[in-house]
Amino acid sequence: MKKGIFIAFEGLDGSGKTTQFNAIKNKLAKIGINCIGEKEPSDRNPIGLLLQDIVRNIGLTVSPISMAKLFSVDRYEHVINNIKPCIDSGGHVLIDRYVFSSFAYQGLDLNFEDIFHYNRDAIELLMPDITIFVDVAPEVCLERINNNRIRKELFDDNGVDLRERFFDAFERMKDTAKVLIVDGNRSADAVTDEIWDVIGPRFMYSERH
Ligand code: TYD
Repeated sequence: MKKGIFIAFEGLDGSGKTTQFNAIKNKLAKIGINCIGEKEPSDRNPIGLLLQDIVRNIGLTVSPISMAKLFSVDRYEHVINNIKPCIDSGGHVLIDRYVFSSFAYQGLDLNFEDIFHYNRDAIELLMPDITIFVDVAPEVCLERINNNRIRKELFDDNGVDLRERFFDAFERMKDTAKVLIVDGNRSADAVTDEIWDVIGPRFMYSERH
C-alpha cells in the first residue's frame, strides 16, 4: 500500500503558521485531496490534553524536564496510534507543530541532545516528508499576540531565543529532516502561494501514481 504524505507546520506563536496550515488544507480539499489535520499538543490522548492546560499558563506548572518528557510522550502516542496508521494506509496528514517545537521551546531550558533522546522513539517512527517553517520577526509575532489575545501563553515573550533554537535544530537535523523556510513577513496569500508551489505538486503526483 502506498504511503500518504506527512507535512508539519512550525513557527513562533503569532507567525501565522496555523493560518497557513488551514489555507493549505483548504486548497487540498478544493482539488479533492483529503487530509487529516492534527496539532500538538494533541487532542488525542490525556497527556496532550494536560499539556494544553499547562501551556495556557493558568497556573499548572511542571519542571522543564517533565515538560519535555510529557511532550515526547504525547508525540509518541500521537504517532503510533493516530498519525502512522493513517500514513501507512495511504492517508495524508498535516500537523500544526511537531518535533521541532520541542527542540525550540524545550530548548529554552534543556540541551538539544536530551530533547533528541526523549523524542527518539517518535523520530524513528515517523518524520514529516517536509517541515514548513513560517518565519516571522519575533517582535512582529509578539505585537500580533498582544493585539489578538487576552492572555499570553507560557512562552510568548521568548521569541528571539525560540527562533534561534529552531534554526539551530534545523542545522543539527539537516540529514534527518527536510525543512522549507518561508518568509512570513508578507501577505497571508503570498505565503500560502509559496508553500503551495512546493507541496501542491507532491500531492498531485502522489494522487496520480
Ligand atoms: P500553539 O501552536 O500555540 O497552540 P494554540 O495556538 O492553539 O494555542 O501551541 C501551544 C504551545 O505549546 C506553544 O506555546 C508551543 C508549546 N509547545 C512546546 O513547548 N513544545 C512542543 O513540543 C509543542 C508541540 C508545543
